[in-house]
Amino acid sequence: MDALDAMQTRRTVGRLVDPAPDDAALARAFQAAVAAPDHKRLRPWRFLVITGDARKQLGGLMAQSLKQRKPDVSSEDMERESGKSLRAPMIITVVAKIDKTASIPEIEQTLATGAATQNLMLALHAQGYGTAWKTGPGSYSQVVRDGLGLASGDQIVGFIYAGSMSAQPPAMAPANWQDYVSAWSGTA
Ligand SMILES: Cc1cc2nc3c(=O)[nH]c(=O)nc-3n(C[C@H](O)[C@H](O)[C@H](O)COP(=O)(O)O)c2cc1C
Repeated sequence: MDALDAMQTRRTVGRLVDPAPDDAALARAFQAAVAAPDHKRLRPWRFLVITGDARKQLGGLMAQSLKQRKPDVSSEDMERESGKSLRAPMIITVVAKIDKTASIPEIEQTLATGAATQNLMLALHAQGYGTAWKTGPGSYSQVVRDGLGLASGDQIVGFIYAGSMSAQPPAMAPANWQDYVSAWSGTA
C-alpha cells in the first residue's frame, strides 16, 4: 500500500480482535511514528504498549476516574467503563512529554506527538491492522495519569486501540477538500 492509499483508506475500526500487531509490525510502526516532524527534535512522544491483563488495570483506572467525576455512578456504568479497555488486544497510550523549559511552545510539542500518532496509525493500517484513536475525560484525569506513572508535564494525546479487523469498517464518503482550501493572494 503506498502512502497516499494508506492516508485515504484508513478508517476508525470499531471492533478490534486478536491478534494484536506483531513485534515486526510494531517496530515498523514505531519507526514511522518517530519520523514525524518535530520542531527542534525534542522528540516529545512516548508510547506505552498495554496488552493482556494490564488492559484490565487501565480499565480500572478509567472506572475510578468516572467515579470521581460522577460519585453516584451505577455499578453497571462502572463495569461498562472498565470493560472498554478490553475492546482491543492492544492499547498504545501516546503521551506528549512536554518540556516546559524548551524554547518550542507546548502546543508544538503536542502537535508533533499528534503527527507521530497519525504516522503510527497509518503504518499499522498499511500493514493490515486496524486502529481507533480514543480520548475522552479519562485521558485528562489525574487518576489515570498517576496510575500510568506519568509525570506532571505529560499529556495523554490518545489511546490507540490496535488489533486485527473482524470486518472492514463501513465506507464513508470522503470530505471534499475543496471545502477547506482557498488561495490567499495577499491584500490589495
Ligand atoms: C484527538 C482525537 C481524539 C479522538 N477521540 C475519540 C474518542 O474519544 N472516541 C472515538 O470514538 N473516536 C475518537 N477519535 C476518532 C474520531 O472520532 C474519528 O477519527 C472520526 O470519527 C473520523 O473517522 P475515521 O477515523 O474513520 O476517519 C478521536 C480522534 C482524534 C484525532
